[in-house]
Amino acid sequence: DKDLNLTGLTITVTAGPTQEAIDPVRFITNHSSGKMGYALASKALQYGAEVNLISGPVNLEIPAGVNYFPVKSAQEMLAAVQDKWPLSQILIKAAAVADYRVENIASSKIKKQAETLTLKLVKNPDILKWAGEHKQKEQVLCGFAMETENLLTNARQKMQAKNCDLLVANDLTTKGAGFAASTNVATILWPGKELSLPLQSKEDLALHILRACQELYRQKQTE
Ligand code: C5P
Repeated sequence: DKDLNLTGLTITVTAGPTQEAIDPVRFITNHSSGKMGYALASKALQYGAEVNLISGPVNLEIPAGVNYFPVKSAQEMLAAVQDKWPLSQILIKAAAVADYRVENIASSKIKKQAETLTLKLVKNPDILKWAGEHKQKEQVLCGFAMETENLLTNARQKMQAKNCDLLVANDLTTKGAGFAASTNVATILWPGKELSLPLQSKEDLALHILRACQELYRQKQTE
């Protein structure tokens, strides 16, 4: 792919789920496999970028050559992003961050007692929103949106609300899209523009996303 050249750029990618502890042995998480984020990290590396991969717990091989930052909770992921975003030209937020965490993590294993057990959850920080609020004008911020209804409308709203330059939207109800699969069906949204991509591997989708990020980055250079 001769159009893609990321030499000289530092790209930070977040990937995987987050794990929110309940007690020392239990946690809340989601089905994210990390495949999309890892495909982005390895393709960015292959096309010349310096890559920071901030990853929740996944069962994937770490692409050789990336700077790897393992995290568990959303709060840890936020801290890592706060560290790396100011030093990056592009941030791609492919991670499936838990929206809520347990308010009080039990310090010892919760015993089986009553018939019901209530966990109080509190909102996690929105990492993408933080990154949008701290974006310099030459930086490119790419978010993801997984929806099960009104995909493009919600995605456009999300892009605005989080001050993203582009957003990759995918419908979890589409066959071959979403978490565990090696393929994805997605639409890449820019302000006033959209690119609907057919079913393809997460590696091929990663190349489309990186090309879009590069195009926006170059545009910003000339503005
Ligand atoms: O609002 P929603 O979770 O659907 O937005 C998805 C996008 O926001 C993804 O790019 C995800 O990584 C990011 N996100 C985040 N922090 C959260 C929740 C979502 O960075 N707490």
